[in-house]
Amino acid sequence: MADVVLIADLHKYEGQEVTVRGWLYDRTDKGKLQFLKVRDGSGMAQAVAFQKDLPEDIFAAIRTLPQESSLVITGPVRADKRAPGYPGGYEIGIREAKIMQVAEEYPITPKDHGVEFLMDNRHLWVRSTRQWAILRIRATVISTIRNWLDDHGYLLVDTPIITPAAGESTTELFEISYFDDKAYLAQTGQLYNEANMASFGKVYCFGPTFRSEKSKTRRHLTEFWMVEPEMAYYSLEDLMDMEEQFMSAIVQRVLEKHKVELEILERDTAALERVIPPFPRISYDDAVERLHKLEAETLDPEQKHLLAIEWGNDFGSPHETALTQQFDKPVFVYHYPSAVKAFYMQPVDGRPEVCRSVDLLAPEGYGEVTGGSERIWNKELLDQRIATIGLDPESYRWYLDLRRYGAVPHAGFGLGVERTVAWICGLQHIRETIPYARMLKRFYP
Ligand code: 4AD
Ligand code: MG
Repeated sequence: MADVVLIADLHKYEGQEVTVRGWLYDRTDKGKLQFLKVRDGSGMAQAVAFQKDLPEDIFAAIRTLPQESSLVITGPVRADKRAPGYPGGYEIGIREAKIMQVAEEYPITPKDHGVEFLMDNRHLWVRSTRQWAILRIRATVISTIRNWLDDHGYLLVDTPIITPAAGESTTELFEISYFDDKAYLAQTGQLYNEANMASFGKVYCFGPTFRSEKSKTRRHLTEFWMVEPEMAYYSLEDLMDMEEQFMSAIVQRVLEKHKVELEILERDTAALERVIPPFPRISYDDAVERLHKLEAETLDPEQKHLLAIEWGNDFGSPHETALTQQFDKPVFVYHYPSAVKAFYMQPVDGRPEVCRSVDLLAPEGYGEVTGGSERIWNKELLDQRIATIGLDPESYRWYLDLRRYGAVPHAGFGLGVERTVAWICGLQHIRETIPYARMLKRFYP
């Protein structure tokens, strides 16, 4: 009996007989020879069926086997530099084959399909090579986030998904009925993090968050995963120091672990290798000045229009894209206007129209991947902000309590997993970075 092995491990079994269990990705018919591409979850390898090596009925079955049929094959591993696949370089000579199921005609063929068709068939599309590569990188981004935080003194403290009040902005809440009450799906775990921070010092929550944003951009999902660290006694500068270490650890880990996947995605890895601290830091004022300059220098009227910005407005994608193109690393933009940011952000001393906030913009046009700030820790100031913005103080009673019992300066941020994965993988659109995307016009399958 040959050992069952993974395609990713074939190099360890050169010359030995092995069994691989998987699915047929593609097949080339050369008469007496059938070249199969078999994938097993860990990779894809060429397997060769030679008529004279196999019982007649088995060879005949292989010869007509449709794409995505499931099968178990056994045979010797041979090294061959030209053998296609990933990792590639090894092929299996089929001596025995058991066909588990003959697939029906598979809807996703090697020809080009429209993206809506692929999204409708997402439950099958996840098997395709590019999707395989992206979702494996996503898993590493997530595990590195956890490992790094766990190794650096942060405690994972879970925050609820069913919440009584808005965490970020009241306009993007998904309302649900909660018995006789109304409740909302969490937009953020931050407010709870702030309570937990006062017990554990450095905490994080990591889970799905929900925003009923009516945006149809390539950066927006209605359900996305966010990790949110929150740290007692941290200033904005401490926050940026930590974020750049954290982000570079994530990117460097993907580079280490996913050469094959990044190659499949044809990702320029030089751009990722540069993601090491320190990252440039510019103020919102400086960023607006840079945009004004770019606007003045631009001849194309349409581009000029997109780059136009008045001090006080939030950046749109074209602004962020243009800014990140000026740097070859992620760039921090700090001290945004208070009016465009959340109610809990600490105003800058002597200049309350801007706040102690910072966004990290990913290079190559990707834009915001993290958003964070120092939090208001003075009770009167927070009372005022809540009143000015028109939030109901009663809903924030427990949150205000945190300013009554041992308040300390603190700061935190949220990192969006999908935007980070889109950037690392070099993707045009965020929809491929999550197994089953939820967007304005889609919640199937
Ligand atoms: O900037 P945001 O809204 O910040 C917060 O929610 C804070 N409470 C975080 C904190 O300080 N604890 O969101 C943080 C990040 C963004 O930078 C972006 O990467 C991602 O979450 N994000 C989205 N990703 C996909 N689709 C959306 N609709 C997103 N909205 C935010
Ligand atoms: Mg933000």
